[in-house]
Amino acid sequence: MLDNVKKSYPRPGLTPLNVLGGLDVEVEEGALLSILGPSGCGKSTLLNIINGLDDATSGTVTLAGKTVTTKTRSDVKIGVVFQQPRLLNWRSVADNVALPLRELGLPHDEIQFRVHKYLDLVGLSEFAAYYPLQLSGGMQQRVSLARGLAIEPNLLLADEPFSALDEFSARKLRQEFVRIWDQTGTTILFVTHSIREAVFLSTRMLVITARPTHTYLDLTVDVPHPRKPEDDRLFELEKSVTHDFMRMEEQAEQEKERVGAL
Ligand SMILES: Nc1ncnc2c1ncn2[C@@H]1O[C@H](COP(=O)(O)OP(=O)(O)OP(=O)(O)O)[C@@H](O)[C@H]1O
Ligand SMILES: [Mg+2]
Repeated sequence: MLDNVKKSYPRPGLTPLNVLGGLDVEVEEGALLSILGPSGCGKSTLLNIINGLDDATSGTVTLAGKTVTTKTRSDVKIGVVFQQPRLLNWRSVADNVALPLRELGLPHDEIQFRVHKYLDLVGLSEFAAYYPLQLSGGMQQRVSLARGLAIEPNLLLADEPFSALDEFSARKLRQEFVRIWDQTGTTILFVTHSIREAVFLSTRMLVITARPTHTYLDLTVDVPHPRKPEDDRLFELEKSVTHDFMRMEEQAEQEKERVGAL
């Protein structure tokens, strides 16, 4: 899927900011792959490139045999849950979820059915007629999740979809999320800051470094779903990944000091 993908952004008066340092990742179909990495390392950038919203500086992104750029799309139906909800504030909640479905050309009845189904799933049926600004931040994030899921994508790109939720709502939604993934076989790329969340949800975890980003850890979580949050195996894995993550951060600090001392 990702073949030596690099991304740098020009900076006025400075050398370009090297964000992605050459990522090689093959994602197996049906995977629930979580992506973890320090803030600002390029996770959202990576999802944008896979989604064809931004171009890699070099390297290729391939989905179902087709190269993806901002000008060339693959046939893969991609659902997105952005880090910020990005709702249209002048449209009702139901309309926000319906809009991508209309773009897909689905019949009216099917759209109504899915809007209802996915708003129900995220616990917002009663708020269908509300406008986004009448909702809390966590509720807006849930609308965004419903919108991403409602197109029933083959590939879902989710950027910290539960980060604005309280732990109790997040737990419930994570369980639903796994159930949907299990039922639909959708491939999911899931960015999160929570090692615990990644361990609980994913079939594979990718830990990436600070800029210029490369893969630090790529591991399979072979605990079958449905999982219990208190499962000892998950707890052990969380501890070990946390340890690795901290070591990665320490190495980055040392490297910064070394470069600074030169
Ligand atoms: N359009 C852009 N133009 C210039 N620089 C950008 C652009 N988008 C992102 N960047 C820079 O690229 C780097 C990575 O940003 P990105 O949003 O991908 O990080 P992230 O890993 O998603 O961080 P976080 O965990 O905080 O969400 C940042 O330094 C950011 O300033
Ligand atoms: Mg981000």
